[in-house]
Amino acid sequence: MSDFTSSFWPIYISAITIGGILGCVLLLWISGTTKVPSASDNTTGHVWDGDLREMNNPLPRWWVGLFIITVLFSGAYLYLYPGLGSYQGSLKWSQTDQFDREVTKGNEQVAPIYAAFQGKSIPQLAQDPQAMAIGDRLFMNNCAQCHGSDAGGSKSFPNLTDKDWLWGGSPEQIHETITNGRQGIMAPVAEAVGTPEDVRNVAHYVLSLSDSPHDSVRASLGKAKFGVCAACHGSDGKGNHALGAPNLTDNIWLHGWGENAIVDRITKGLHNVMPAWQSKFTPEQLNVLTAYVWGLSNKDAGAVEAAAEGGTNNAAAPAPAPAPAPVATPAPEASASPAAAEAPVGDDASVQVADGVVKLYFAVGKADLAAEADQALADIVTGVQAGKKAVVSGFVDSTGHAARNEELAKQRAFAVRDKLKALGVAEDMIELKKPEAIDAGADAKARRVEVSLS
Ligand code: HEC
Ligand code: HEC
Repeated sequence: MSDFTSSFWPIYISAITIGGILGCVLLLWISGTTKVPSASDNTTGHVWDGDLREMNNPLPRWWVGLFIITVLFSGAYLYLYPGLGSYQGSLKWSQTDQFDREVTKGNEQVAPIYAAFQGKSIPQLAQDPQAMAIGDRLFMNNCAQCHGSDAGGSKSFPNLTDKDWLWGGSPEQIHETITNGRQGIMAPVAEAVGTPEDVRNVAHYVLSLSDSPHDSVRASLGKAKFGVCAACHGSDGKGNHALGAPNLTDNIWLHGWGENAIVDRITKGLHNVMPAWQSKFTPEQLNVLTAYVWGLSNKDAGAVEAAAEGGTNNAAAPAPAPAPAPVATPAPEASASPAAAEAPVGDDASVQVADGVVKLYFAVGKADLAAEADQALADIVTGVQAGKKAVVSGFVDSTGHAARNEELAKQRAFAVRDKLKALGVAEDMIELKKPEAIDAGADAKARRVEVSLS
């Protein structure tokens, strides 16, 4: 097998290699045989500074010897190893073979470790600290560049720590995704939808599915056109794992949020590729990676030790818990203030009221309000009726992508604003205030919106 695409290059390389060696030989030969006419005192006749003369001595023997050895060495080397264009050398050595041998050797060394995982189901593997430590390293080296080192994803690269799946979150589905890769394809369907106005209307209908801010007149006009989308996203908009068509009702936006983003999807379509890993990993490694990814969103089942809030994420500990960042993030507000005395905050949406401030907590990556939000906001609503203003500020935890987090903080604040409006508070009595630092630390308490009266 030759790496050359044209027969010119092997010849060119051989010619300059052999030409170089012959040049050396020629130089040796010339300098060994040619006699410079010499003056009677064995100098060449060159004189510098009036007194400095160049002697006409032969080359030192050791130097000539080295030259000869070099020439012989290169001859032997080029005979044994590939060096002359496409000639493979009599030993048939190649970089690829050497690499393959080393990989095989490495695989043999780790085989006993993987053998211990054999026969374990994916949930069992997700509980095995050694398997998860390996999974963590495999993930960091191969997946983190796209999905983020906390697997939190970013625009167009899905978050693997939540329960929102394009292609399904069962162990089998995740295994299939990693092994054979996935191609998420949405064709541009604007023509099927109708006029550009129809497209905007349908976009507002899609926004209405997740209770995102939308124009309700447009949304009701757009509803009729959603049939085009229903083929893939389902008539209820909840998506279809077989096609990788996302749930449009959950307020999680992989490719951007808002009317313009959705109009873009409809007019330009999408093609999003998750590479296949079958040829890179052994079946055992694919299982470990599947268990690692599955464990990220199934931590109750997956990680007994790491279940506690703020669990550390060092390589030895299995850390499928998504929320804690691997670094000890300074969280001044979250830990120094009276918050420390409050009840601990779980991973689901919840509510706490203290000192007239309503704190609404959110699940990772979500902007959905807890069911008790209405009740908790009752005092705020009364306060507004008494002439005060409601101030709404969104915070996020420090895991994940900063731009995405900022977007999330905004969406959470919008969700609370919409809730207040639904509870009868006029929009001009609600002040959306961006906090100076939206990132409020690494634990569940950081994922919140605060509402107070001013
Ligand atoms: C080159 C970037 C890239 C790399 C590297 C990559 N992925 Fe992905 N991955 C993607 C994209 C893009 C998608 C979304 C595909 C789609 O939109 O249908 C995805 C989707 C996934 C999904 C499906 C998510 C869902 O919601 O169904 C899983 C699971 C996944 N990747 C795991 C991995 C693992 C494990 C690795 C490392 C072995 C990895 N990925 C490496 C880009 C990447
Ligand atoms: C042929 C199947 C198909 C049809 C028809 C289709 N979609 Fe999609 N859509 C997809 C797939 C697949 C994706 C996800 C691509 C990816 O990320 O892998 C997607 C993604 C989206 C997204 C991005 C969601 C996000 O999280 O960012 C939006 C919005 C969307 N579609 C809206 C629509 C609307 C509105 C229509 C109808 C006008 C429609 N789609 C019709 C298959 C389809």
